[in-house]
This record gives sequence, structure tokens and C-alpha cells, in this order.
Amino acid sequence: MKAGTSPPASRAAGMRTLVVHVLAVAATALVLFWCIGFRGGLAFRSSDKQHIFNVHPPLMLIGLVVIAGEAILAYRTFPASVSRDARKKAHLALHAAGLAVGLVGVYAVFKFHAEAAIPNLYSLHAWVGIATITLYALQWLAGFLAFFFPGAAPETRRSAVPWHAVLGLLVFALAVGNAQLGFLEKLTFLQSPPARLVGKYGAEALLINFTAVIVLLLGIAVVIATVNADSTRYTAM
Ligand code: HEM
Ligand code: HEM
Repeated sequence: MKAGTSPPASRAAGMRTLVVHVLAVAATALVLFWCIGFRGGLAFRSSDKQHIFNVHPPLMLIGLVVIAGEAILAYRTFPASVSRDARKKAHLALHAAGLAVGLVGVYAVFKFHAEAAIPNLYSLHAWVGIATITLYALQWLAGFLAFFFPGAAPETRRSAVPWHAVLGLLVFALAVGNAQLGFLEKLTFLQSPPARLVGKYGAEALLINFTAVIVLLLGIAVVIATVNADSTRYTAM
């Protein structure tokens, strides 16, 4: 093969990660466009308590889906010149950043509920949300202890890593699914009587649903870019 050309397999892998980056940028832009352009903007302190709520969707999406997705792909997206050790540190640090951003996002929605006198944890979205962020934090801690510091014995690491990868993808899928519930719940609030702030086919309704579809596609793209489809494990053909 000529210098500078990559084998077809890695070119396909490059395409898969490129799709992830494009969808990640699109999801981030869309959720910010919605919360700033249609919902009046983001603020931690405001007399309009909705502005405090508006911090929640972008931070959850950027932390637990966009940054988490990029963190999951960190072992695959860096050029070959980047060492395994550096990739591992990028994976660890990006997941820490995703978790921190997600925690601030959850804090914002609890602050909104407290200041607007709305009860906490009454919805499926809230329950799955607490489970998701807790499992994400536990996954990070387990990964840190097993693979970084103090680090488990080589044999234990070898048997733990497939579980780490599968459970990590499951937690990520929970975040994507719960973001879908969040978009649905918020749109339902906005369309409900008496105010009916958003029409059934209004521009904002279409924007929220379209954003949620992009988030779903992003989740699918991360999983497809991560898994190794291994034909040798199937024997019943
Ligand atoms: C992706 C990860 C997400 C997680 C882990 C998450 C987590 C949570 C949690 C724990 C609450 C409960 C707060 C409380 O009871 O005081 C909540 C509330 C809420 N979230 Fe999310 N959220 C996520 C994404 C989103 C998104 C993208 C939206 C889109 C609009 C959204 C909309 C809402 C709404 C409307 C509430 C308030 C009503 C309720 O308590 O269910 N969430 N979220
Ligand atoms: C919530 C946090 C985390 C999630 C969701 C997560 C998820 C994942 C996923 C999905 C993979 C498979 C990636 C692939 O096949 O390319 C993976 C691999 C791995 N992760 Fe994590 N991870 C997290 C935190 C950590 C931490 C803190 C460490 C500590 C160093 C770590 C170390 C590793 C290692 C060593 C691998 C194996 C990479 C390889 O050999 O290809 N992870 N992780």
C-alpha cells in the first residue's frame, strides 16, 4: 500500500467516527438554539425560573451524551502517533469532564424545582435520570480503580475490560434514552393546557423532536463505531 493511504477497514472506522463528530456538533448546536432562541436563554440566577431550567437540557446532553460519546471513542479517534497511555488518560479525563458537566446539569434542575416550588423526582425521566448519573459515576470509579490507580492485577484487568466496555455502553445508552424522555416530557409540558405554549406542528415542536432524533442517531453512531462485529462467534449457520 502507498504511503499515506489507509487500509479500507481503518478508513471505514474513520468514517464511523466522523459521523459521530458531525452528529455531536449538530446535537449541541440544536439544543442550544432551542434553549436560547426559543426558551429565552440560560441562567443560574434569574427571576424567570424557566431560565434556570434551561441550563438542564444542554448540560445533560453535552456532558452525558456528547462528551461521553467522544470519551468512549478516545481509544479509536486519536492518530496512531498517540500512545495507548495518552489515550487512556484522555478517556478517563473526558469521562470525568462529562460527569462534572452532567452533575451541574442535574443540580440546575433541582435548583429550578426548589425555586419554582415544584416537587422532585415524580417522573420516569427523573427516576431513570438519577439511576443514569449514579451508574455513570460508579462506572467511572470502577474504571479508575481497576485500570488507572491503584490498578488491578493484569489477570483481573483482562477479565474486567469486556464487562467495563459493555456496561459503559449500556450506561451511555441509558443517557441517550433518558434524554429522549426529557425532550418528550418538556414538549408535553409546553403543549399542555391551559397555556398550550407550543402548537402540535409548530416550529418549536418540530425543532425539539428533530433535536431528539439527532441525539438518537448520535447514540446509535457511537455504538456502531465502538462495537467489533465478530463473525467468528456465530456457529449455527
Ligand atoms: C441525558 C441525561 C439526562 C439526565 C440524566 C436527566 C436527569 C434529570 C433528573 C434527575 C431530573 C429530576 C430533577 C428533580 O426531580 O428535581 C430531571 C428533570 C427534568 N429533566 Fe432531565 N435529564 C437528562 C436530560 C434531559 C433533557 C435532554 C431534557 C430535555 C428537555 C430534560 C428535561 C427534564 C425536565 C422537563 C425535567 C423536570 C421534570 C421532571 O422532574 O421530570 N432532561 N432530569
Ligand atoms: C463513566 C465512565 C466510563 C465509561 C462510560 C467507559 C466506557 C468504556 C467503553 C464503552 C469502552 C470500550 C471502548 C472501545 O471498545 O473502544 C471502554 C474501554 C476502556 N476503558 Fe472506559 N469508561 C469509563 C471510564 C473509564 C476510566 C475512569 C478508566 C480508567 C483508566 C477506563 C479505562 C478503560 C480501558 C483501559 C478500556 C480498554 C480500552 C482498550 O483496551 O481498547 N474507563 N470504556
